[in-house]
Amino acid sequence: MRDPRITRRGLLAGGAAAAAGALASCAPQQAVLLDRAVPETMPEAAPPAPGGSATEPFHGVHQAGIATIPQAHAVFVGLDLLPGTGREAAVRMMRLLTDDARRLTEGRAALADTEPELATLPSRLTVTFGFGPGLFRAAGVEDRRPESIAPLPGFVIDRLETRWTGADLLLQICADDAVTVTHALRMTVKDARSFARVRWTQRGFRRSAHTMAPGTTQRNLMGQLDGTVNPQPGTPDFDRAIWVNDGPQWLRGGTTLVLRRIRMELEKWDAADRVAKEFTIGRRLDTGAPLTGQQEHDEPDFDRLNALGFPVISEYAHIRQARVADPGMRILRRVYNYDEGPTAEGHADSGLLFASYQADITRQFIPVQKRLAEGDLLNEWTTPIGSAVFAIPPGCSPNGWIGETLLS
Ligand code: HEM
Repeated sequence: MRDPRITRRGLLAGGAAAAAGALASCAPQQAVLLDRAVPETMPEAAPPAPGGSATEPFHGVHQAGIATIPQAHAVFVGLDLLPGTGREAAVRMMRLLTDDARRLTEGRAALADTEPELATLPSRLTVTFGFGPGLFRAAGVEDRRPESIAPLPGFVIDRLETRWTGADLLLQICADDAVTVTHALRMTVKDARSFARVRWTQRGFRRSAHTMAPGTTQRNLMGQLDGTVNPQPGTPDFDRAIWVNDGPQWLRGGTTLVLRRIRMELEKWDAADRVAKEFTIGRRLDTGAPLTGQQEHDEPDFDRLNALGFPVISEYAHIRQARVADPGMRILRRVYNYDEGPTAEGHADSGLLFASYQADITRQFIPVQKRLAEGDLLNEWTTPIGSAVFAIPPGCSPNGWIGETLLS
């Protein structure tokens, strides 16, 4: 029997919405002229719970998604610009993507949103944009590329795969709800695809919202508390360590991102006993306390020796090798777990999407990564398989767009 809800008018309206999608890239304002324009806010079938309607501000000096308390779900998408996408096209693309991000993060449908109901629960959605080395070339602004926005020097531990490495443009989409993330991903990639091709998509997750008290450190898939020593948003150390203050004018208020995909060799890790696991990091698995302390946030005592005269926290422990004395020079680790499901043989394909933000990659990230590559016990159980570097431009005003300081 014919579904009475499917009418010719309805089908035509559907066609109009699709046409609006096509139009969106050239003349956004025309969409409202169509037969049944997509409403910006949709009534929800059931009233949203506070977590679902929660929003993170999109506008501001900095882009959201960096100092933001990490949401439970993330997707990082690396895109390569299509041949012929020059500066003018890059401007159009960024205006369009900014408009999508602005609407979706506020819980409003994107322009010509084909599933506007999915936009109603922003769940602290953030959409953050980054520019890889290729964008500067394509847009003819190579002279404004910071030197460190380039592939990292090779490290002995690297086993990088092309399918996870490099990209011209980054979309980082985070929210406390996986459906919200997927919808925002689809809407933004749809608008990007006239200008760029997707190179990789990396999905990550952390403990869900409301499963732990706010401020609790999450655990990674090796079972460790991960994120204990990290710059704290709102402090002068954070501002100095993360935001670009004295770099190129166009990047002031922005930052840089190094995204490393690090596989965990979980089968090998399972074979290590608890003592070895704790010795590797220099912290206890249960409380996250340093091996010289009682509680997670106790200062590690790197000078303490055991009865045999050896350091309690090994010379090669992860936290000793990774330590940076000056808190204003630390990196911000905003990591997500990944899990691609077991292989046919039942082995894990999991690890960390290691997202590191810092004002200056050369001064902050590279020295730590170099020390770790050369002398970190953890290397036995982890392998970097992807690497990409992006400049994260500053935020924008309600009339502005992300990237305007570089491209306009
Ligand atoms: C799969 C790979 C990795 C795992 C499982 C891991 C795990 C951990 C753990 C459990 C801690 C101690 C708790 C904490 O302070 O968060 C830690 C600390 C730290 N990690 Fe990693 N990490 C990994 C990769 C890296 C990489 C690639 C870098 C930098 C290039 C890095 C830099 C740091 C820093 C700076 C600290 C804080 C050290 C301190 O001052 O105490 N980690 N990591």
